[in-house]
Amino acid sequence: MNEHTHRFVLTGLGNIGRTFLEILISRGDSLRRRYGFDLRCVGVSDSSGVAYDPDGLDIAAIVALKRGGDRVSALPQHRPDLSSARMVEQAGAEFLLEATPTNLQDAQPGLDIVRAALRGGSHAVLASKGPLVLAYAELAGMSDLAGPHGAPALRFSGAVGGALPTINVGRRDLAGATINRAELIVNGTTQVILEEMATGMSFDQALAAAQAQGIVEPDPALDVDGWDAANKLVIFANAVLAQPTTLADLHVAGIRDVSHEELRAAWGAGGRISVLGVADRQNDGSYTLSVAPVALGPDHPLARLRKGEMGAVFYSDIIGRTTVASLEDGPMGSTQAMLRDVIEIVGRI
Ligand SMILES: NC(=O)c1ccc[n+]([C@@H]2O[C@H](COP(=O)([O-])OP(=O)(O)OC[C@H]3O[C@@H](n4cnc5c(N)ncnc54)[C@H](OP(=O)(O)O)[C@@H]3O)[C@@H](O)[C@H]2O)c1
Repeated sequence: MNEHTHRFVLTGLGNIGRTFLEILISRGDSLRRRYGFDLRCVGVSDSSGVAYDPDGLDIAAIVALKRGGDRVSALPQHRPDLSSARMVEQAGAEFLLEATPTNLQDAQPGLDIVRAALRGGSHAVLASKGPLVLAYAELAGMSDLAGPHGAPALRFSGAVGGALPTINVGRRDLAGATINRAELIVNGTTQVILEEMATGMSFDQALAAAQAQGIVEPDPALDVDGWDAANKLVIFANAVLAQPTTLADLHVAGIRDVSHEELRAAWGAGGRISVLGVADRQNDGSYTLSVAPVALGPDHPLARLRKGEMGAVFYSDIIGRTTVASLEDGPMGSTQAMLRDVIEIVGRI
């Protein structure tokens, strides 16, 4: 291991966690060439437990294990005496990559895992949203969000729209400007369902088609009732608008009541209907926050998004209008967002 090798632990080995290891296998050489560092995995966990080896784990073997439907408890480095959070503490690695399921009841297991990392001085890069939605202020207080300048860094650029650069554009590229209004389309599933319905499918058929693509949350209500978009708007409000926000502060409406007539009218006019997360700045500097299906006219910058594509528009005082969009296929985009966070932190170290 040389001085440019950074050790990491990875919690969660599903679509995101496993894909992260696959990217490392295929891009390890290019990381070294372009950015001058290596990453070494010293610990992983899934729902069966933890595997830990301070000298490094064989990530190709872990990918093969998970692809074969097996679990971490089958690895020779399995440590039944360690929880994920204890492993993070014991490893003291430079990075935690957190990709366990999003749990909006108590944010566990992710919250205790991230706490352990930040307490121990590890930079934390999150794909999971639960800890950010439920404990943003606490975690921000334990980290250096703009850093690292001493305290460990906390990054989550993939948690609000995957590869769509909502957090990074808001925090970094619009620096110095005041955002007067932000419009976020950050739920790809409802983008697909509404588009399918616009071609004549019933709500149930369109939901089933989206489920067949594997893009619907295990509890579809999170998508179709607007809660996934609401979670992301909560993170955006806290992280970009600096407005302490919880879900209770948002007005949230889903797509169950959108009619075929409304959809036909919107698409017929050259626009579309999308679930829009909106932050609107008031005279006192606070933001009103809402999530609801909205008809976008043909001139709206997000009216031309393709099926499943996500996007965001920022209206600010000194920059004007800034639009970003991202069409992703599968978990690769969100996983790349974790890698870009790691690269950014390494660049600052
Ligand atoms: N998929 C996306 O496109 C996407 C995009 C942005 C953000 N995210 C977020 O990223 C996170 C991961 O998403 P995903 O699609 O990879 O989910 P997933 O496929 O369901 O994978 C979740 C992983 O977490 C593991 N796990 C469950 N309980 C655990 C526990 N108590 N301790 C340790 N590991 C545990 C699971 O173990 P088993 O393998 O044993 O089941 C699985 O490996 C979620 O929070 C999600 O909201 C996902």
